[in-house]
Amino acid sequence: MTASTIRYDRDADGIVTLTLDDPSQSANTMNQAFKASLTEVADRLEAEKDTVRGVVFTSAKKSFFAGGDLRDLIAATPADAQRVLDGSLTIKRDLRRIETLGVPVVAAVNGAALGGGYEIALACHHRIALDAPGTKIGLPEVTLGLLPGGGGVTRTVRLLGITDALLKVLLQGTQYDARRALEAGLVHEVAADRDELLAKARAFIDAHPASQQPWDVKGYKIPGGTPASPRFAANLPAFPASLRKQLGGAPYPAPRNILAAAVEGSQVDFETAQVIEARYFTELVVGQTSKNMIQAFFFDLQAVNSGASRPQDVAPRQVRKVAVLGAGMMGAGIAYACAKAGIDVVLKDVSEEAARKGKAYSEGLLAKALAKGRTTEEKRDALLARITPAADVAALAGCDAVIEAVFEDPALKQKVFQEIQQVVAPDALLCSNTSTLPITLLAEGVERPADFVGLHFFSPVDKMPLVEIIKGERTGDEALARAFDLVRQIRKTPIVVNDSRGFFTSRVIGRFINEGVAMIGEGADPASVEQAAAQAGYPAKVLSLMDELTLTLPRKIREETRRAVEADGGTWTPHPADAVLDRMVEEFGRTGRSGGAGFYDYVDGKRAGLWPGLREHFTRKDAAVPFEDMKERMLFSEALDTVRCLEEGVLTSVADANIGSILGIGFPGWTGGALQYINGYEGGPQGFVTRARELAAAYGERFEPSALLLEKAERGERF
Ligand code: NAI
Repeated sequence: MTASTIRYDRDADGIVTLTLDDPSQSANTMNQAFKASLTEVADRLEAEKDTVRGVVFTSAKKSFFAGGDLRDLIAATPADAQRVLDGSLTIKRDLRRIETLGVPVVAAVNGAALGGGYEIALACHHRIALDAPGTKIGLPEVTLGLLPGGGGVTRTVRLLGITDALLKVLLQGTQYDARRALEAGLVHEVAADRDELLAKARAFIDAHPASQQPWDVKGYKIPGGTPASPRFAANLPAFPASLRKQLGGAPYPAPRNILAAAVEGSQVDFETAQVIEARYFTELVVGQTSKNMIQAFFFDLQAVNSGASRPQDVAPRQVRKVAVLGAGMMGAGIAYACAKAGIDVVLKDVSEEAARKGKAYSEGLLAKALAKGRTTEEKRDALLARITPAADVAALAGCDAVIEAVFEDPALKQKVFQEIQQVVAPDALLCSNTSTLPITLLAEGVERPADFVGLHFFSPVDKMPLVEIIKGERTGDEALARAFDLVRQIRKTPIVVNDSRGFFTSRVIGRFINEGVAMIGEGADPASVEQAAAQAGYPAKVLSLMDELTLTLPRKIREETRRAVEADGGTWTPHPADAVLDRMVEEFGRTGRSGGAGFYDYVDGKRAGLWPGLREHFTRKDAAVPFEDMKERMLFSEALDTVRCLEEGVLTSVADANIGSILGIGFPGWTGGALQYINGYEGGPQGFVTRARELAAAYGERFEPSALLLEKAERGERF
């Protein structure tokens, strides 16, 4: 017998308070113990129902209820399908038994109620949420490749109507704070504190004696139309189309199953809808994609953010005042991110005017946020007051961290560090946002190389969640830990890599781009190449991405790499993409978007279709690259190189690899990241190796699996 996770307290007035309080962990989840407790509670309530006047669900934890038991879900194989289905049906049955007791049931939501937590609340007749920073409400299952299988689809469709249920709750997995949940109709009331929360719950019960039954306990009606109504019929065909647009053809099964469960469930009675929902849920749970996404977006992300790659024996430290050197695109974005996190920023450029222009970038972002109701005038003013534009180094006095983002020129970077190192705090952390220059080389120009570290942000800084921290040969543990803490302080996700050409992210994204460009050289149809990237799940199509980065950049990097490799006595192997880029630039003068012409044509700076010359000069009718191969060549080239990064010690953790690849360079989320893609590939690493060898035979040696991958495959291990 497991310890009960739900306390049952009945007061003299016949009100039963069900307190969710799992003794085995810090948050409540839908684990076996909870399921057993829920059944017991439903049994007892049914036995005592004649003397029960009302029921209140609340929790003794900081959050109300955290959701599904992810360890259990990630372990479920297709052989467990019946068990998963039965589990989902049992929870639904027990919640439904409580819902239909014939007495008012109230959810007193005292903190986060996500996924299973909100499903419990949905089964209550009345929902009151504590208006506090920790309160988050919603059904984020889709972000883990799942659907809410505890009645969440069935009930939100009946609560909000199918359109709002899909768009506001189910398909994006949006999380609402208490106020917004109230506006969206997800809760009925909010409360200022715990006492008010429980008082309001009791007041609802007092106002609704069991005999009156104001709620529909027999079943639900769907607002906004039943399947027969014209409005419903008119909306229905739009959903699959908008879903296709949202997903770009990428293999995410969850949104499709959610749509199907919502639509099919809306045409039948409540009980049948619950069974339909349970079946679609089970299919997702036992499938591979949810495992990939749970691994990455829950376990790996938690490992990365909690500091698995941070030196452990350095005390945490917070930055109070940061110097951002260079107020261009990156510097302006970095200044905004720091000020947003409450850090004072001195934004320095060569002139006051340039520095002010950098600050104006924050003003622009905040004006937009204000217009959308995402910030207040007070918060905007406070944030802007923290950014001081400056041209004079004297303004940097007292800064305890420096982030350099001047032009990508090693001599200039070394010069600006020379200028500032006497002015800032004597132990200030020194960071460079270089995207290509070796950190070890830049450190040669500073007086305290142990305090020098790479801090590689991504553009646009305000939207991109990842920062790649680069450890140079002389970077000390203290600096590494402080850089890590700074990235967490500005609420971004840090991965830690060792210094090497292109670090991790730029190096690996280069494989993806090269592969797409190489296909053009083989005569593949350019529209198909773009389509393959979209259907593989990449957020940016490969040729359009190349245009953004410019065609000259990889040529420059290639030359530098070639020189470095040859200087080390190595042999330089050209990539088949090189010849295509050379022709594009030298023969056709097409250098990318900023040059007004690249793989695409541009009109007034806007993309205006693929350049017709590609078909004329490159495409060959007899060149048949199968579409499946196109997709896999992109995914494999990146995954294979990620293994090499791990092998060479550029990467030191699997979690960093998975999270860095998804958040930094757009490796498709459904894979769970570049290494999890190998784990989850049909047949696991062994199956991946077999396929890599096929690709190597057909397209070149670069697809040959490396030693570490072969070793994993042979031992039957995973990353
Ligand atoms: P940018 O050209 O927009 O800005 C550079 C700024 O540095 C200019 O405002 C310039 O006036 C200023 N500057 C030049 N000399 C200076 C000095 N002595 N003192 C103070 N400021 C000075 O360049 P961007 O794109 O912002 O890039 C900056 C750095 O960030 C480069 O090292 C780049 O490689 C790196 N990076 C760029 C990314 C991107 O997507 N653009 C992504 C990640 C890193």
